[in-house]
Amino acid sequence: MEKEKLIQMLNRDLADEHAAIIRYMTHSYLEGEDTSIGASLLSRAREEMWHMHWLGMIIGKLGGEPNMTPAPYPHDPTNRATIFQSYIDYEKKLVPHYEEEADMVDDPHIRRVLFRESWESDYHALKFKKILDKLSSDEASGLPGEENELSEALVERIQQSVTAKYRQMLQSIRDAWVFQSKGEPAWQRMDFSMTKMKQLAHSAEEIAENGMTPRLTTGRIILAGSLSEAISNGLEDVRKTIEIHEGLAADSEAKEHGGLMTNLDLTLRQEKYESDELRDRLSKSGA
Ligand SMILES: [Fe+2]
Ligand SMILES: [Fe+2]
Repeated sequence: MEKEKLIQMLNRDLADEHAAIIRYMTHSYLEGEDTSIGASLLSRAREEMWHMHWLGMIIGKLGGEPNMTPAPYPHDPTNRATIFQSYIDYEKKLVPHYEEEADMVDDPHIRRVLFRESWESDYHALKFKKILDKLSSDEASGLPGEENELSEALVERIQQSVTAKYRQMLQSIRDAWVFQSKGEPAWQRMDFSMTKMKQLAHSAEEIAENGMTPRLTTGRIILAGSLSEAISNGLEDVRKTIEIHEGLAADSEAKEHGGLMTNLDLTLRQEKYESDELRDRLSKSGA
């Protein structure tokens, strides 16, 4: 298969895996991570993250630009039963899809990845079927989500954090995939991407716990041509979220939510660590 065609094909898969992550993660937060349905969904979301990551690494290694915009995830949002049925249908379609793709590729690693994404999708369908079969009639006809207890202004502030952090997380993982041949500094982009996922989870959960959908919009991914440019943009990015989070930490309504404040405190300390590391790295490389 021609390289450009292969990159295009893998980029479409990347967008589908990305869509599945967002769908299962958002749904998990709406159910509550500590519920059995929520925990299972989060587990699936993590496996979709592997899937996305393997594809991203292959695309980066091939010299391609990863497509960081998620595809739509078609689902019937009427109630839990229709939602889980949509998930089963989605995963089942991926089984022959990935098998067919694997058969078109010669590279043994890429073939193995595509086959694994096929059979893991089959397991996902099976696990969602088990949830669907176990739903009580109230659960089946109901929808996840609690009542909102936050003011509109505070919701907006937290949503700003969600959107900014999600973009930064995608940006750093893109940089890690694209610059993987640079070794350790690229690994650090990956490391920060993982911290950002956790920080994103804190704010996205806060929104979903209040029955709203976290605003996971991709924003503009910067296609930095060099790793030092990517690191320098990363430093600018983290500066922006420090500002958002300092604002949130000083918000009088936010201060009434103990859990939110603890997570904000942790996030701010991690962000300062990140900016110190990046600044240091830039001054040493003379970039
Ligand atoms: Fe997947
Ligand atoms: Fe899946």
